[in-house]
Amino acid sequence: IPVDPFDLVIFGGTGDLARRKILPGLYLRFLSGQMPEDAAIIAAARSDHDDDAYRAIIRKAIDEFVAKDKRDAKSIDAFLSRLSYVQVDAMGEGGWKELAGKIRKGMVHAFYFSVGPSLFGALAERLHKHKIADRKSRVVVEKPFGKDLASAQELNATLAQHFREEQIYRIDHYLGKETVQNLMAVRFGNMLFEPLWNAQYVDHIQITVAETVGVGGRGAYYDNSGAMRDMVQNHLMQLLCLIAMEPPNAFEPNAVRDEKLKVIRALDPVEPKDIVRGQYGPTGDEPGYIEDSENPESRTESYIALKLGISNWRWKGTPFYLRTGKKLKARASEIAVVFKDPPHSIFGEQEGRKGNVLVIRLQPNEGMNLRVTIKEPGPGGMRLIEVPLDMSFAEALGADAEDVPDAYERLIMDVIRGNQTLFMRGDEVEAAWAWTDPLIEGWQGAGTKPATYDAGSSGPEDALALMHRDGRRWREIAV
Ligand code: BG6
Repeated sequence: IPVDPFDLVIFGGTGDLARRKILPGLYLRFLSGQMPEDAAIIAAARSDHDDDAYRAIIRKAIDEFVAKDKRDAKSIDAFLSRLSYVQVDAMGEGGWKELAGKIRKGMVHAFYFSVGPSLFGALAERLHKHKIADRKSRVVVEKPFGKDLASAQELNATLAQHFREEQIYRIDHYLGKETVQNLMAVRFGNMLFEPLWNAQYVDHIQITVAETVGVGGRGAYYDNSGAMRDMVQNHLMQLLCLIAMEPPNAFEPNAVRDEKLKVIRALDPVEPKDIVRGQYGPTGDEPGYIEDSENPESRTESYIALKLGISNWRWKGTPFYLRTGKKLKARASEIAVVFKDPPHSIFGEQEGRKGNVLVIRLQPNEGMNLRVTIKEPGPGGMRLIEVPLDMSFAEALGADAEDVPDAYERLIMDVIRGNQTLFMRGDEVEAAWAWTDPLIEGWQGAGTKPATYDAGSSGPEDALALMHRDGRRWREIAV
């Protein structure tokens, strides 16, 4: 179903994110027929281009970042004809009149700030001064949304001077991932899991976001951030919220976000012994983190594992183990809900029993896997074994699973539809920083160094110990 006609202005329209994700995503939505006839995309940036030069840049980006079977010459031309370019000076007055002239009445107006947060205030101010934005316009901002609570509060205050909360779309692209939304469908669309989804039945939960890439090429940004700020404060926190939250009364923006906020506020402070940080070392010809970050003194973590507790009725006593890192052995993200053993075994002692685990694979090979216990076939008596009930969404859903829009495609269309459910509210972001800040201050104050781990491994040894200490173990990082 096509969305309403819109003018989408992308500030930073020649930047990396615009070329890699935003414009290719918009092209794919165009290809699927979701973009109405009179939709217009206006790129605004500092450099001097005309419309044709800009279209050439995006043609190249589509070639590079869109799969070959989706690159149809006629459709690409038709899509590019929706694009125009305005040279705008974010801090000055140049180009704003021209931009104002392009904005049509009676359309949805969305402004995507694909620029550093230091420009948010200047852009918002000029959008109003030149009467380009009004009380109905939408504004989209990207992470990093601040680097701590104080800076996030400042950004929220800056945006609030010009826009109401209902107009602000803070992107966490993990919320746009198909399987991440599926977490809510699985939990609240089935009767099967929810009654067991609490500390009485769940032994612990593991959340893993493992990447194979390093930080080469973006070392300067990353070294001021680290895995905690880059991944845990936002992406893993969102996953944790969706797994741990109470059922909202409706799948509606504030109902969902209220419940997520309650989870963040119920998080216990984390003790230093429950945090393991790591940095990847060099291997063969491949540089290690120190070389990639170009900072020989760097104490920034490219890996982190944490044990968390949630102080509420549902989860008191069930630990959540989170880990994420770069240059690990596989790109594999999953959530594993590990259930407790039955209270009594009527089959006597069973060596090496592993019990029930529900694994939700986020990427790649999206799917679900439930490990159940059955009798080992054959005459050997009542010996129990575990077998997987395995479902790959691609296999189960066939072609339907292939046409799933990527996170950015979905989220941009949600902006146009005016649906904030999959976007972070200001208080949510601030609560996440309020929890994150003392942990970072803790290790910075203590001056601790992250442990070195081998590229291509599962992370530092100490992270294994974090689990072993509790008589538990991480699942293999595997595709
Ligand atoms: C980004 C981080 O937000 O998410 C990157 O800044 C990380 O460091 C990326 O690589 C991971 O996203 P995805 O979609 O590839 O899992």
